[in-house]
Amino acid sequence: MIGVFDSGIGGLTVLKELMRRLPGFRFLYFGDTARTPYGTKSPETIIRYAIEDTEFLLRRGAQVIVVACHSASSVATDTLRDRFREVPIFEVVTPSVEKALALTRRKVIGVIGTRATIESRIYERLFRERDPGVRVYGRACPLLVPLVEEGWLKKPETRMIVKKCLLPLKMRGIDTLVLGCTHYPILKKLIAAKAGRRVKLVDPAEEVAERVQAFVEGKHFSSLAKDGEPLIFVSDLTPAFEEVARLFLGRRVKLLKAEDAPV
Ligand code: DGL
Repeated sequence: MIGVFDSGIGGLTVLKELMRRLPGFRFLYFGDTARTPYGTKSPETIIRYAIEDTEFLLRRGAQVIVVACHSASSVATDTLRDRFREVPIFEVVTPSVEKALALTRRKVIGVIGTRATIESRIYERLFRERDPGVRVYGRACPLLVPLVEEGWLKKPETRMIVKKCLLPLKMRGIDTLVLGCTHYPILKKLIAAKAGRRVKLVDPAEEVAERVQAFVEGKHFSSLAKDGEPLIFVSDLTPAFEEVARLFLGRRVKLLKAEDAPV
């Protein structure tokens, strides 16, 4: 099984892309809705949560782990790889960096994400390791997460906030923008419109799904391939979470309350 975890429901954007590319595979998702959001928390807390989320998925039979949460990918990947050495672990940051480098012409790249993601400065580090000539500008846009969860996708308030959020990046002359948070692909059209025609967007869900696909197909992981609905566990269940899940996955899904979830 391919295990995917996120701080909550947002990671379903990654699950959706994985399911589109790997329709025959069995997926196990864990959304830590009891402790969401991660993006406002300290690296120490996010690392602890990410370890527990990974343990939950492994207990339930995951053979590959996909960290869908950008905040967790940004601060916890090294610890997870160190601690779970025998398990292939995919995260959303590196594939986005590589895609952005392939797209940029002027080497001026913007990244938007949660506070935890932007303050980790992981993007600066990974971009510079690959190309010291690149200029990277990060901007935390924490307001976008609750707006998406409320379904305020087309409201004038949301348009205004997206515009404000992107303005400093536009003023730097970015030509490529990484959507560094699970929730932002839901606003892709609006972000594209406000960023301007010349700015290319990187959707990390697409990039990580491509990596996972190459890995599992290349390894002939036939044991992962089983038909069936994904198992979607959450650490807390409310009707609102089910509504948000429908928005993210584009269809109604059953969420299961995990009694043995870390809390
Ligand atoms: N999943 C988180 C991320 O991608 C966004 C929501 C949160 O802050 O937990 O960073």
